[in-house]
Amino acid sequence: MAALVPATGRALDIACGRGAQTVWLASRGLDVVALDVSGAAIALTDAAADADGVAHRVDAKQEDLENGLPDDLQDFDIIICQRFRNRGVLEALGTRLRPKGVAFVTVLSSVGLDRAPGKFHAPAGELLEVFTRDDIEVVWHLEADGLAAIVIRCT
Ligand SMILES: C[S@@+](CC[C@H](N)C(=O)[O-])C[C@H]1O[C@@H](n2cnc3c(N)ncnc32)[C@H](O)[C@@H]1O
Repeated sequence: MAALVPATGRALDIACGRGAQTVWLASRGLDVVALDVSGAAIALTDAAADADGVAHRVDAKQEDLENGLPDDLQDFDIIICQRFRNRGVLEALGTRLRPKGVAFVTVLSSVGLDRAPGKFHAPAGELLEVFTRDDIEVVWHLEADGLAAIVIRCT
């Protein structure tokens, strides 16, 4: 899927954790806004960006996304949301992408799980339900082994 990832423009990494995806995107040449509720995660993301020489391309901010994405976050060429399940945030992604922009989303899933699902596990089909806008194309989708992932593109 790397061919779908632009090499320039603006990226958003939602719930960035230690910043692995943020640094990868910045190393490709993208300017990245990275958000996480945890101050420790933001400090680790800043440190990782610094260590890889891409700090000038990374704007990491502590932000609680429980109630959605801040309104001023718009016009992204790519959005990454890995292992953070918040339906309101996911439903907003299509409105935050530029035309032809792409989003990569992964959540824990109850599909293929070998134990009872917890509150972070999405029920079957949730990602497909979220991305139903007419201007969104589903490029790829998979549910298996306790994970669900989807790649979408704005038309
Ligand atoms: C499983 S980790 C995934 C981190 C990263 N995306 C990755 O794939 O390595 C989940 C992340 O979501 C963040 N998180 C949890 N609740 C959040 C919230 N309400 N707002 C923003 N970030 C949150 C956590 O701090 C944590 O860094």
